[in-house]
Amino acid sequence: MRNVLLAILCITFPMFLFSQNQLIMSENFAIVIHGGAGTILKKNMTDEQEKAYQEKLQEALDSGYTILKDGGSAIDAIEKAIVVMEDSPLFNAGKGAVYTNAGTNELDASIMDGKTLNAGAVSGVRNVKNPIKLARVVIEKSEHVMLSGKGAEDFAKQYKIEMVDSAYFYNEHRLKQLNKIKDSEKIQLDHSDNDDEQGDITELKDSKFGTVGAVALDKHGNLAAATSTGGMTNKKFGRIGDSPIIGAGTYANNATCAVSCTGHGEFFIRNVVAYDVAALMEYKNLSLVDAANYAVNEKLVKLGGDGGLIAIDKDGNIAMPFNTKGMYRAYKKANGESKILIFKN
Ligand code: GLY
Repeated sequence: MRNVLLAILCITFPMFLFSQNQLIMSENFAIVIHGGAGTILKKNMTDEQEKAYQEKLQEALDSGYTILKDGGSAIDAIEKAIVVMEDSPLFNAGKGAVYTNAGTNELDASIMDGKTLNAGAVSGVRNVKNPIKLARVVIEKSEHVMLSGKGAEDFAKQYKIEMVDSAYFYNEHRLKQLNKIKDSEKIQLDHSDNDDEQGDITELKDSKFGTVGAVALDKHGNLAAATSTGGMTNKKFGRIGDSPIIGAGTYANNATCAVSCTGHGEFFIRNVVAYDVAALMEYKNLSLVDAANYAVNEKLVKLGGDGGLIAIDKDGNIAMPFNTKGMYRAYKKANGESKILIFKN
C-alpha cells in the first residue's frame, strides 16, 4: 500500500521523486587522482614545473569533484578527471603519451564500475584522442571487456569517438626520450620531468612512471576506478602494461574498494595488484590502508616492482601508497578536505 501511495505521489509530483532521491543520498563522497609515480624529486623540478603539475591536478580533481557534489556518478566523475589529464602534455596518457620504438604512440586505458562490476578497456590505440572515453563506450555498447588496436579504433569510429591524426601526439621532449634509448634494449617508464635520468628495466631507481588514474565514491555509495597511459618509451612488439588490464591496473567493487595503479606494469600484472587490494579486504578483513600498503610496500617490493596506487573504500577512506621517490597525487573529500602532493614528504 505504501509503495502504491509513493508511486502515485511520484507520478503526480515529480519534485516528490526528487526529494526521495535526495533522502537516500549520502553526504559521504570523495575523489582521488594520480598522475604517475617515479623518481620525482624536488631538486629536479623548477617552481614553474611544479606549479604546472599542481594546477593541472587541481583542475582534474575539481572537474570530478563537481560532478560528485552535484549528485553525479563516480564513473562520470573519474572519466571527467582522466580526460583533463589526457588532454595535458604533462602526463604520459592521451596528448602526453610516450613513443614506441617505431615512433608511434600506442595508448591503453580501462574503467570499472563498482556497482555492476562492468568494465571496459582498450589497448594499443593510436588515433583516439581520449582512450578513457572509448573504454567507457566499451562498457556501454559492447558485450566485451577489452578491445585492441585497429578493431578498437573501428569501434571508436562507429560510436563517433573523437579521432586525431598522429601529429596530435607530437612532443619534442618525448621524442628526445625515445631517441636516447631507441637503439638499446632499454624500455623506459618515464614521466619526463628530467632529461638526465633514464630508467630502464634494470635501473628502475632512475625511472619515472607516467600514467594517470582516478577513483571515486559517489553520494549513492557507488565506487569506480579508471586508468589511462601511453605505456613505456621504446616499447616494442605491441607490449601492453597493466593499465588496461582489469584486476592488475584497475579494479572497483562496491563491496570493498576502487583502485588505480601506476608503475612498472609487468610487476603489477604479475601481482594482480588492484584486485589484490580488494581481495585482502574481502578475504583477510584488512583495512583499505593496510591492504594498499601491503600490496605496494611488501608484495611489490619483494618482487622488485616499483610504483604506487590510489584507492578509496566504500566508507570514503583513502590510501595513496607508493614505493618510489614521488607520485603525483591529489584528493578531495565531501567535507572540503583536499590535498595535492608530489614528493614523498
Ligand atoms: N603502468 C603503465 C605501464 O606499465 O604501461
